[in-house]
Amino acid sequence: MANSLFPTVTVHFAFLLVFFGITSGQLSTNYYSYSCPTLLPTVKSIVASAVAKEPRIGASLLRLFFHDCFVNGCDGSILLDDTPTFTGEKAAKANNNSVRGFELIDQIKSTVEQLCPATVSCADILAISSRDGVVLMGGPTWEVKLGRRDSRTARRALVKKYIPTPSFNLSNLISNFSAQGFSTKDLVALTGAHTIGLSRCVNFREHIYNDSNIDAAFAMRRQAVCPRKSGSDDNNLAPLDPKTIMTFDNHYFKNVLRNKGLLHSDQELLTERYTASLVKFYSRNNDAFFTDFTSAIIKMGDLRPLTGRKGEIRNNCRRKN
Ligand code: HEM
Ligand SMILES: *[C@@H]1O[C@H](CO)[C@@H](O)[C@H](O)[C@H]1NC(C)=O
Ligand SMILES: *[C@@H]1O[C@H](CO)[C@@H](O)[C@H](O)[C@H]1NC(C)=O
Ligand SMILES: *[C@@H]1O[C@H](CO)[C@@H](O)[C@H](O)[C@H]1NC(C)=O
Ligand SMILES: *[C@@H]1O[C@H](CO)[C@@H](O)[C@H](O)[C@H]1NC(C)=O
Repeated sequence: MANSLFPTVTVHFAFLLVFFGITSGQLSTNYYSYSCPTLLPTVKSIVASAVAKEPRIGASLLRLFFHDCFVNGCDGSILLDDTPTFTGEKAAKANNNSVRGFELIDQIKSTVEQLCPATVSCADILAISSRDGVVLMGGPTWEVKLGRRDSRTARRALVKKYIPTPSFNLSNLISNFSAQGFSTKDLVALTGAHTIGLSRCVNFREHIYNDSNIDAAFAMRRQAVCPRKSGSDDNNLAPLDPKTIMTFDNHYFKNVLRNKGLLHSDQELLTERYTASLVKFYSRNNDAFFTDFTSAIIKMGDLRPLTGRKGEIRNNCRRKN
């Protein structure tokens, strides 16, 4: 009796899994536990060697994840290369010659394909590796929810619509983040990502020459690497957080508090009482920054993932199958 019931129960259970587990759109931290048990340590060790070689790559991965998630959700769309018949997000103004880390994602993907063929999405590799980058640079850790699938499409125009620019004022920033479901507190905590990595002169020129809410000596130091006139120096780099350039900590907020934010948008956080109070709070309390950053970045990873039968598991992160 029990034996003859068993298959029915199994079939029902499988049906329930498909119905609620897979098509409900929910991500889970143990998604690849059975299908690719060594995924997490494999990704971590590749990111660790890359960060040891070039610490900035950790920052670049984090920004890549942000720019992927804010444009149509975390679906790996930013990774697609342009072709004669396809215009993706990569070369959009906010990304072109700016977002980086694609070669590292390729390297991780090809290793993971050998380990667990046709199983792990590029979108998930981005989510895992950006977390690993943050941890390796001294930041907080979190459990990455997984189970995203990769988009088969991308739209360049959406980058302009969703990715904030450094010339934005605070109300622009708040409205762009709230359009994705983020609170003003999430905005301030997430912008703390500017504790690591670099910016090009084109993105901070206006701020160091034309804004008055900037420390004068700091502005002069940056002007030395970023001449007023646009030209061959446009790609010159300066650290977003010069004190601890490649360490993920709350020093970014100390800079902003002292009018030493590199981007106009960074310094905007000080222009209203509520956001200024958060800047002050995080500048004094690293644990609070880590806690709020962690919950906001997990929320970012939940942005409109493709699950179930939507999208695909790409063979190569640069093109659809
Ligand atoms: C609040 C709105 C934001 C604006 C306007 C903004 C803008 C920028 C700009 C202009 C750069 C320099 C890019 C270049 O010059 O090539 C940059 C770098 C960076 N951004 Fe943001 N960002 C914002 C929010 C975020 C968020 C939410 C994250 C991640 C959670 C993030 C992570 C980074 C990182 C890590 C870098 C350094 C990348 C590297 O060195 O390769 N940013 N951002
Ligand atoms: C992206 O940058 C390259 C220079 O590296 C340039 O040739 C190309 O036209 C740019 N693409 C777009 C769409 O602006
Ligand atoms: C912010 O910029 C928008 C234009 O994008 C402008 O309409 C608004 O008045 C500005 N807000 C403040 C407080 O400066
Ligand atoms: C982001 O803000 C800019 C400037 O205020 C606006 O043009 C754009 O539509 C906003 N995007 C979203 C998705 O709210
Ligand atoms: C600063 O403002 C002046 C006057 O509005 C303008 O001519 C100039 O192009 C702006 N930008 C820089 C980098 O000086």
